[in-house]
Amino acid sequence: MAGSRSLKQRLPLFLTVLTILACIISPVGMYPMSVKHENFKKCSQSGFCKRNRAYADEAVASGSNWKAPYELDSSSITLEDGYLRGIVIKSTESGEKVRLPLTVSFLESGATRVVLDEERRLKGDIELRHGSNIRKERYNEAEKWTLVGALTPNKVASFSPEPETGFTKVLYGPENQYQLVIRHAPLELLFQRDGETHVKLNDRGLLNLEHWRPKVDVPEGETAPEDESTWWEESFGGNTDSKPRGPESVALDITFPGYEHVYGIPEHADSLSLRETRGGSGNHEEPYRMYNSDVFEYELNSTMTLYGTIPYMQAHRKNSSVAVFWLNAAETWVDIVKSKSTTNPLSLGLTGKKTTQTHWFSESGQLDVFVFLGPNPQTLSKTYGELTGYTQLPQQFAIAYHQCRWNYVTDEDVKEVDVKFDRYQIPYDVIWLDIEYTDGKKYFTWDPMTFADPKGMQEQLDESERKLVVIIDPHLKNENGYPIIDELKSKDLAIKNKDGNIYDGWCWPGSSHWVDCFSPAAISWWKGLYSYDKFKGTFPNTFIWNDMNEPSVFNGPETTMPKDNIHYGNWEHRDVHNINGMTVVNATFQGLVERKKGQLQRPFILTRSFYAGTQRMGAMWTGDNQAEWSHLAISMPMVLNQGIAGFPFAGADVGGFFGNPDKDLLVRWYQTGIWYPFFRAHAHIDTRRREPYLTGEPYMQIISQAIRLRYQLLPAWYTAFHEASLTGIPIVRPQYYIHPEDEQGFAMDDQFYVGSTGLLAKPVVAKDQESVDIYLSDNEKYYDYFDYTIYQGGGKWHNVPAPLEKIPLLMQGGHVIPRKDRPRRSSGLMKWDPYTLVVVLDESGAADGTIYVDDGESYDFEKGAYIHRQFTFVDSTFISEDIGSKGPKTDGYLKSMSDVRVEKIVVVGAPAEWEQRTTVTVIEDGAKGATHASLQFTRGESGKAAYAVVKNPNVGIGRSWKIEF
Ligand code: NOJ
Repeated sequence: MAGSRSLKQRLPLFLTVLTILACIISPVGMYPMSVKHENFKKCSQSGFCKRNRAYADEAVASGSNWKAPYELDSSSITLEDGYLRGIVIKSTESGEKVRLPLTVSFLESGATRVVLDEERRLKGDIELRHGSNIRKERYNEAEKWTLVGALTPNKVASFSPEPETGFTKVLYGPENQYQLVIRHAPLELLFQRDGETHVKLNDRGLLNLEHWRPKVDVPEGETAPEDESTWWEESFGGNTDSKPRGPESVALDITFPGYEHVYGIPEHADSLSLRETRGGSGNHEEPYRMYNSDVFEYELNSTMTLYGTIPYMQAHRKNSSVAVFWLNAAETWVDIVKSKSTTNPLSLGLTGKKTTQTHWFSESGQLDVFVFLGPNPQTLSKTYGELTGYTQLPQQFAIAYHQCRWNYVTDEDVKEVDVKFDRYQIPYDVIWLDIEYTDGKKYFTWDPMTFADPKGMQEQLDESERKLVVIIDPHLKNENGYPIIDELKSKDLAIKNKDGNIYDGWCWPGSSHWVDCFSPAAISWWKGLYSYDKFKGTFPNTFIWNDMNEPSVFNGPETTMPKDNIHYGNWEHRDVHNINGMTVVNATFQGLVERKKGQLQRPFILTRSFYAGTQRMGAMWTGDNQAEWSHLAISMPMVLNQGIAGFPFAGADVGGFFGNPDKDLLVRWYQTGIWYPFFRAHAHIDTRRREPYLTGEPYMQIISQAIRLRYQLLPAWYTAFHEASLTGIPIVRPQYYIHPEDEQGFAMDDQFYVGSTGLLAKPVVAKDQESVDIYLSDNEKYYDYFDYTIYQGGGKWHNVPAPLEKIPLLMQGGHVIPRKDRPRRSSGLMKWDPYTLVVVLDESGAADGTIYVDDGESYDFEKGAYIHRQFTFVDSTFISEDIGSKGPKTDGYLKSMSDVRVEKIVVVGAPAEWEQRTTVTVIEDGAKGATHASLQFTRGESGKAAYAVVKNPNVGIGRSWKIEF
């Protein structure tokens, strides 16, 4: 007893020594690290956030006495050509009447856009402080970077002003099914579908547009009527923001009556279904923040901001989904509370038990919000995508496996890694170079000592159709004689500080300047830098990684740029911050499309920072995660959320960026990473090497099996990307998205479907876990992907075995899954390989699916050079039909693909009577007559489904055919 007591007493000291030792021996890898909270603002440290939260608190405290000071002047309302216009009057405490022009656009897509601006600022009738010459208007150019279409108004919107009742009603949308009810005073907007209110704006009266006012010096000894402490200047972490326009935030409450779940507003390391933010058990204390930042060692289950922003939120309840998009590029916060639903006459027929109330506030800019009435997640993805663009159809290689680390240190190193992948027969498509390849962190150069022969290196990669991605960051080393910086200065293309001089900050190269990709001249210069002539040592198989584009500034406030910095057009950085990263990607994208005149190629760009619209130009990843199980687990909700928010080409660093994963974690990470639309392993410079072939057996085999599964399913992945590029539908889809009627799945974010294939995955993301519980919503049979074990669906949970070597993956009955089964070194080498089609029959013996194929690199698909087929299995007949449309390049492409055939068809859940059959009849369009192929039936035993294999039916993947079983 005495001995054990003394051990316990000594334990704390022992642990402290151990911790210190661990830190000395290994700064990364042994213990979870955590963010430095003091470097990032909490709401209470951000003036406008604090003010708007206080405003909301006051409203709640005042209850029914709360007087929201905004009303729509009834006499000002007009409706013309699909635009409703009017003047909203804000009455201030001092009796001032501030005029705010309101425009509501009813769009053909059924979406509605509500814009509120400030008349005085629109007219330029304000004074700026500190002699600043920045713009006087509220920022109104976010749409220029973000929106690409669907702004055509629906001219038939019908209008019934009822001035005497104080309401205006507008019927709009498809067949006038939607109605907007505007209450004039206080202003409130109710969006109704089929007679029910689904979205309410300013229902809680939290609309707050901080109008311009001059700074009046309060005589000494007196106090200002309002708390002005955060109006005119703000300091944080030793930096002072000069705020030349004073307070100018915009805020609004948005309520989803009867909706318990909301999703979206990336980027946060949090659950898919967003949590409440006003405290209480299991809830957050802070609002979700969106202010693109380089957050070192970010924490999980947090509302802290990360690298990118998409201010788009989807709300879901049983059988109904709606959404809003808050088009604002300034720092933004969103509070979420959920309350018990109350029935009110305007929201008849509520089905959800709870109502979600959200409160949005941005530091500057006009109020610009889109409302989408669904009615389901698919229509929302489509309508939102029409506005901001769909995901780019990537090159084929871009959806295969990427091998990265900071850094592959020489060209010889790259070549050796390349050879080793082959030696160990592990496929990969792309190898990456982080910042060390450059000559002293000067982008667009190569270190002459370590990368003396980029050409030879890339020639070797090219032999197996592999690609190289090199990093190019937007901070440019301020060093005399570096031609890029000299041009940046002489052409006046850099971001300026508040005094109008080139802004100088600290990043990887030390003292740096930042290219201002808001400027058309900067865009055309930056574009030009990627031409093969300029960026020597790059070739058609070199692609680009834009990192640190939040922008990350090591010595800047909150590791970014001062808000009073100035961009092209005299806009403050404050106004455009969240778009900055996207402008860099935009300029890079334009550069990569045509690096040599006449040679068009689909670009591939990875970006860390993003905004709504970036999905049109590349992929994103979730930044600097850690080699911890918790980081593996959160990666899937984060990736799923990206898909909901219209940017599905997303992934996380496989293996974890900081730290050294143990082998189990690394294996499980690969088994999860194969489900990220963007699948890349990456690691910090201080970590140990962990290429899959270094892991030893059995880990190497298990990892390579996982990567091979990704390669086998590439035809299905490419088809899913194609679908996303046309409809905005996520590539990996959360449970609620597929089963919008089943409440059990609304908060699920650890199991998901891959494209429209019916493949349902639930990776293991916890240590020592040897099985997973999978929930099957619909009344279908599901089958284990590998051994066809049957799992009956219908609101049921199943425990699926998942020892380390097993990837939990089920196939939902009713689908056709296209695959390529021949193992190759890279996806490029699979181009002419034959296909396998897996037909997974449903309860009625039917299945369907699609495939999309093109050359995987050029834009010829826009001229019809592609194959798009519909597969249908019904009444024991399997057919392939063309669902593409013809273009000038269709015939040529089909001809080039005529030798690409189907080599195998597997029918899972095959009927017992097939046991007697040995052949199937094959009829291909254009063939001389029917042929036969062999059918091999295997009986279903011990819980496994029967299946049948047709060997070599030899039908063309691009042809119409029919196979009779
Ligand atoms: C930060 C990125 O997040 C990381 O992936 C990269 O390795 C480093 N920058 C160095 O470029």
